[in-house]
Formats: sequence, C-alpha cells, structure tokens
Amino acid sequence: MRILIVGNGGREHALLWKLRRDAPDAEFFATRPNGGMAPLCQSVDIAPTDVEGLAEWAAANRVDLTVVGPEAPLASGITDRFEALGLAVFGPSRAAARIESSKAYAKDLLRSANIPTAEHRTFSNQASAEAWVREQGAPIVVKASGLAAGKGAVVCMTVEDAIDAVASMLGDMNFGEAGREIVIEEFMDGEEISVFAVCDGEDFVLLHPSQDHKRVGEGDTGPNTGGMGAYAPVSIATPQVMEEAASQVIAPTLAALAGDGAPFRGLLYAGLMNTEAGLKVVEFNCRFGDPETQVVLPLMASSLLDLMLTVAEGRSLAGVTAEIRPGAAVTTVLASGGYPGSYEKGKSITIPEDLESEGLIVFHAGTSVSGQGLVTSGGRVLAVTAIAETFASAANASRSGAARVEFEGAFYRSDIGWRERARLDPRTAPDEE
Ligand code: AMP
Ligand code: GLY
Repeated sequence: MRILIVGNGGREHALLWKLRRDAPDAEFFATRPNGGMAPLCQSVDIAPTDVEGLAEWAAANRVDLTVVGPEAPLASGITDRFEALGLAVFGPSRAAARIESSKAYAKDLLRSANIPTAEHRTFSNQASAEAWVREQGAPIVVKASGLAAGKGAVVCMTVEDAIDAVASMLGDMNFGEAGREIVIEEFMDGEEISVFAVCDGEDFVLLHPSQDHKRVGEGDTGPNTGGMGAYAPVSIATPQVMEEAASQVIAPTLAALAGDGAPFRGLLYAGLMNTEAGLKVVEFNCRFGDPETQVVLPLMASSLLDLMLTVAEGRSLAGVTAEIRPGAAVTTVLASGGYPGSYEKGKSITIPEDLESEGLIVFHAGTSVSGQGLVTSGGRVLAVTAIAETFASAANASRSGAARVEFEGAFYRSDIGWRERARLDPRTAPDEE
C-alpha cells in the first residue's frame, strides 16, 4: 500500500509514526517532510497547499490513501479534487471544512442545531461591533472568522481590550482576509478538553480526550500559540462527559452538516468548555489537533489506518470502536525564542540519543536537515512525548526529556498538565487558582 501524508508538522510526524505501526509494509510519502519525518518516508517536493500539484502527483504515483494533516488544503478543496480523480483521501470536503474555515458558519450551524455554545454575533462593520462590545461588557472574546493558525481568538478582560481587538481586525486588517468578518462571543468559564471523532458523515468513533495548552507562558499566561503541550487522558472527561460530548455535540453536528449537504468525513475536533452548565463548544477543527495528536495516537492500541480507510473508501463506521491502551501520555513542545512572535531559524539542534531508548518519542515540527545537520525551521520545533502508567510519571519524563534537547533560544513550558496535577495532588495547586 502507498500512503501519502500531506503536511510536515508535529501532527503529521505523529500520524506517520502511528500509520507506520499500523502498516509496517506500506510505502510512505510526505510533502516536504520535516527532519524527523524525512528518514521514515519518501519526500514529495510539492507544497502541502498545492492541491492541483498533489492531485496530479497522487494519480500518477498510484497512491492508495492520502491523509491530509493541515486545515489549509482541506479548506481549499483538496478532498473534492482527489475524489473527482477517484483517489481515496482522508479529510472532509471543502464544504464540510467550513466548520473550521468559517467561525461565522460554525456558529450559525451550532445555533440552528441547538448545540450549546457561547452567545455570539457576527460583524464586518467596526462601529456595530464596537457598539455590541460596549453593550455586552467584559470579559468578552473577539475572533477572526477565517483561518488564523490558532491565533485569531482574543480573550479580552476589559471593554477597551475588546475595542482594540475589533479595531485590529476590522480597522487595521491585521488578520488579513481571515479578519474581514469577526465573531464576538460571550466569555465561557471552565476547563477545555479536545475531543477527536473519526467520522464517516453519519457515524463516528471517539478517540481519547486530551487537553491542549494554548498560552505561551507557565500557568496559562501570555498570548495564544498553536499549542505548547498536551496530555491524555483528562480525568474530568469522564465516560459520562464523553457520552455528553458524543450525544450533545458530535452527533447533532454531523447531522446538521449532512442536512446542509456537507456530510463530514474525516477527523472532527471539538474544542469543548466544561462549564457549570455542561459542555459548550469553543470551536471546531476539521483535522487532528497539534500537539494533541502527539499524545492521543501513542495511546491508541487499535489501528488508525483501518478507520481512515473505512472513511476514505466510503464505508460505514457503525459499530466500530477504537481500543485505547492504559496509562497516560504527556507532550512538551520546545519552541524558538520569540514564538509566537517573530523568531530566528537555522539554529543547530542537539537531541540526546538515549531519549528514545528511554521510551520517549521526539516528534519533530519545525525542523529540517541542512549541511550542518538538524536545524530549526519553525516556531514550534519539537514535541517530547512520554507514556507512563500514571499522569505524574509521564509529565515528569516529558519535562525532563524536553530539558535535555538543546538549541539556541529554546524554551518550553515546564507545567504541562498542571490542572491535572493539581487535581491528582492538590498540594501542587498554584495559590491563585
Ligand atoms: P479558538 O481559536 O476559537 O479555538 O480560541 C482559542 C482559545 O481562546 C480557546 O482555546 C480558548 O482558550 C479561548 N477561547 C475562545 N473562545 C472562548 C470563549 N468564548 N470563552 C473563553 N475562552 C475562549
Ligand atoms: N492544538 C490546537 C489546534 O490544533 O488547533
């Protein structure tokens, strides 16, 4: 079997890692693979966003399955193009990907299907947006409607901050096209969980719940990033909570998308807030989360490839379940100094050889191999995943593994999973919490 992975970040390294375990004899290809993926697959020198180039290449090279990692090619219709050529692809159509590529569309769909989410309004006029902010008061959340690499949501604790965020998006166009339309919504208090569902358009299989750490600084401070670390499972995501996620969020969302003529076939990621009033949707993504994938897949005992093939070949997932291995996984992201702002690239990376022999998995994201060896090439550089019997040992192993990776300017959060740690051992709870 010949499998093409579109994308070259940490999530795609984790997908490649898992699919190679599921199909050790398959031939793997990836678009411009990063330094960690490159030794595991053949490189296809086509940009992940070049839909036409990839479709031609996949047809000419008799690819049996294409797995699309990032949202951008999905939002540009890579699945529609591949399917038109009769190629099997895992990822939703352009129409179904709007659940992520247009927050305005996602919010309208949620509201019309009565799925719990924050109260919101959509604006493209700055004065009307400001007026609604003043009427609502703070805290309040201002979001660019389009794709903004996970950085398009601004949680505002004061009305002034919210007015500034509106001006930045609608006035100064700091988010470009993505911010031409904005969503302003009620602030939801609670703890977030990321729920992944492999969907066939109608039925779905839930994977392990996980929790991301979007803020750059310890204790969840500073600006939002793509994600600085994650862990799975999350003890607040009890079987009852997961049942609520399935019946109150995932199932009605799939029904609403199908009713809209856009059945969702692929990985639906629901970012859910566990509020006092129950689960509420923060956002949807039309693909696996990064870095959550780096903890969810290492804990998956059954085959991901089987699920993907079932969906890509148009078969039903009814009655199918995923097998999860016991234990916990924690991943710590190492980022380039300055991230999520500007940062330098091309720094030499040293990864001690014994990390992997100690059972840690080093997933590469922004790395590449140059004349001087492995160097940094992005904001999020690597993620060090540890798997252990308990959350506490996985967290300790991931953190100490991250501490041993070196490159100039490297930084990481040493508190990944702090909420879980505080729940399991209240003595470690920060004073202000
Ligand atoms: P999003 O881009 O919609 O995923 O938002 C990014 C992050 O902002 C989320 O992961 C939350 O931490 C936070 N956030 C977004 N919307 C809300 C909300 N309505 N209330 C509280 N926090 C939010
Ligand atoms: N970790 C958040 C995301 O993938 O969107």
